[in-house]
Amino acid sequence: MSDDARRWLDAAARGERLDTIDLKTEVPHAARIYDYLLGGKTNFPADRAAAEEIVRQVPGLPISMRANRDFVRRVAKHAVTELGLRQFLDIGTGLPTPPNMHEVVQAVAPESRVVYVDNDPIVLTHARALLTSTPQGRTAYVNADLRDPQAILDSPQVRDTLDMSRPVLLSVIAILQFIPDQARAREIVSTILGALPAGSALAVSTVAGDLPAPAGDEVAKSVRSYNAQGIPTVAYTRSGVEALFAGLDLVDPGVTLVNTWNLDEAAPEVPDRNAFMYCGLAVKP
Ligand SMILES: C[S@@+](CC[C@H](N)C(=O)[O-])C[C@H]1O[C@@H](n2cnc3c(N)ncnc32)[C@H](O)[C@@H]1O
Repeated sequence: MSDDARRWLDAAARGERLDTIDLKTEVPHAARIYDYLLGGKTNFPADRAAAEEIVRQVPGLPISMRANRDFVRRVAKHAVTELGLRQFLDIGTGLPTPPNMHEVVQAVAPESRVVYVDNDPIVLTHARALLTSTPQGRTAYVNADLRDPQAILDSPQVRDTLDMSRPVLLSVIAILQFIPDQARAREIVSTILGALPAGSALAVSTVAGDLPAPAGDEVAKSVRSYNAQGIPTVAYTRSGVEALFAGLDLVDPGVTLVNTWNLDEAAPEVPDRNAFMYCGLAVKP
């Protein structure tokens, strides 16, 4: 972690803010585009312009993003209630968006520990909202890049917060599409899972690249649009997503669209034509 990042986190822990991080507000960022399309306020003109252009081409994208965000809630709830997990490593956290993962899991099991990881400086500057743990549990934030999984595993926050001899949910939700080399993405996921014991689980969602029209056309436009905005993005086939879960036991109903996975009474109703992402949860045997 950089000195800047550490100073930010120390200041956040004291309830202060610093203004020393270059947020590169003049270029659009994935986290801030997503925040804007979810109705958040942590975004700048370049993000809003990029988001508006993407939505002009793909009007259904915000609906799909909201469906994905509700998958975050449902999969975290499932992991804590059905799998009994109490430790969570969430990589590609995004800007704080209630309910954040620790709020979901600590509502069920207040002793739960959550480590958040993101590489976007804007997420770092808002990390304070992610550090509001219950007294019984803990939360921590790591400013790191998924493409360097060992740095995440070796970070003091992961080492101090998580007991790596006990099961952990690894969540990589709506992030893998930003690693264009899918073989490398599989390798990264398997490196992290390799450091976790049996009983750990993997939660994934990512952009679906093999959907029938009209959703398929919308996804293709949205991928083109992200790339045109300077954010390298790829889409996965269903079998590409299944390959991420190789060697793990998929939880029912397997790999599905985000609008259908283990719905509960709070889940929004989203038609398939507005669901652009696959998702799944699996347990390490
Ligand atoms: C679309 S948001 C997803 C947020 C949250 N997981 C959700 O699904 O609601 C993707 C996040 O991944 C982060 N991200 C993208 N590439 C990353 C990388 N290589 N390492 C760490 N974070 C990354 C972005 O900064 C952004 O905050």
